[in-house]
Amino acid sequence: KTKIVKVDPNNIDYDIIKEAAQIINNGGTVVFPTETVYGIGADALNDEAVDKIFKAKGRPQDNPLIVHIANFSDLYDLASEVPEKAKVLADKYWPGPMTMILNKKGILSDKITAGLKTAAIRLPINEIALALIRESKKPIAAPSANTSGKPSPTEAGHVIDDLMGKVDMIIDGGSTYIGLESTVVDMTTEIPMILRPGGVTIEDIVKVLGKCEYDPAIIKNDEKIIPKSPGQKYRHYSPKADVIMYKGSIENIVDNIVQDYEKFELEGRNIGIMSTLQTEKYYTGKNTICVGDRNNLLTISSNLFRDLRKFDELGMDVILAESVDEKGLGKAIMNRLGKAAGKVINV
Ligand code: TXA
Ligand code: MG
Repeated sequence: KTKIVKVDPNNIDYDIIKEAAQIINNGGTVVFPTETVYGIGADALNDEAVDKIFKAKGRPQDNPLIVHIANFSDLYDLASEVPEKAKVLADKYWPGPMTMILNKKGILSDKITAGLKTAAIRLPINEIALALIRESKKPIAAPSANTSGKPSPTEAGHVIDDLMGKVDMIIDGGSTYIGLESTVVDMTTEIPMILRPGGVTIEDIVKVLGKCEYDPAIIKNDEKIIPKSPGQKYRHYSPKADVIMYKGSIENIVDNIVQDYEKFELEGRNIGIMSTLQTEKYYTGKNTICVGDRNNLLTISSNLFRDLRKFDELGMDVILAESVDEKGLGKAIMNRLGKAAGKVINV
């Protein structure tokens, strides 16, 4: 029932894009790559089609979807108000890994926005995504193409594992670039507020707007603070294994991971370490996956979700993960690791 097709992002086969657009226009679902993660798309103006997304993912109805557009001007069809600062931000970071929350127009149903007065809108940079939106001539609603609660997919294989038989088409466009979902920034407040950190960082936004803050719910990992982004309240991005994250100086992190590894091993548990290029050498003889280079956080963001899934495939019960500095992309990496981790140990 699910058709799987390969598309080269550097040499797009428009016959396939046409077929995919037809599925969208007939109320079906198409999974496509973006520069962040894969998305499961449907016509944002067709409630029945949008409903198929919620069903396929097992997504709670109170979690609103992002609507994807291909031109900045499309924004005016969907948002009732586009403040000057939103124009400035879009001018700089669209197309790209950034989603803006704006007051919505009535054309967007309560199904898409989970009854909120605002909508999440994004203009991606991936050429396959853009071609699909242009060809279908529809805004496309697309959450990440994972089963709800699992790490977002960064390769078509992850989508096949989660959604085979549950969607009409999967477009395999290779690995995504950033590997973490877009930055969600609320533009309806006087000071723009980041509801979910991602590829466009707070530093990037401050550079062009002067001001930007984090939603308090993503700074403190305190369950009493209700996040403004409904999706942030779920314990997300979690692999089957228990994830323990270690925070502190790199020496202390390594020491504690080595000690705990040996302790868990005596208990007969299957343990894996998520190491980095800089620390790998301290874990010889242990099960490790090197997630990337601390001096190039893009390598870590792009591998993180894939490696969490790999640990599951290896049948690990426990994953010991190192933290990174919360600067730049590090903020988004730590936000996702924090959600995956059942336990954070300060060392
Ligand atoms: O990178 C991405 O954003 C990917 C690709 C496919 O574009 N999409 C994605 O969608 O991550 P999803 O549905 O997994 O995450 C959307 C997030 C959720 O946390 C949701 O709660 C939040 O955006 N959101 C959507 N509409 C909102 C609104 N009106 N106000 C606040 N948060 C909203
Ligand atoms: Mg998601």
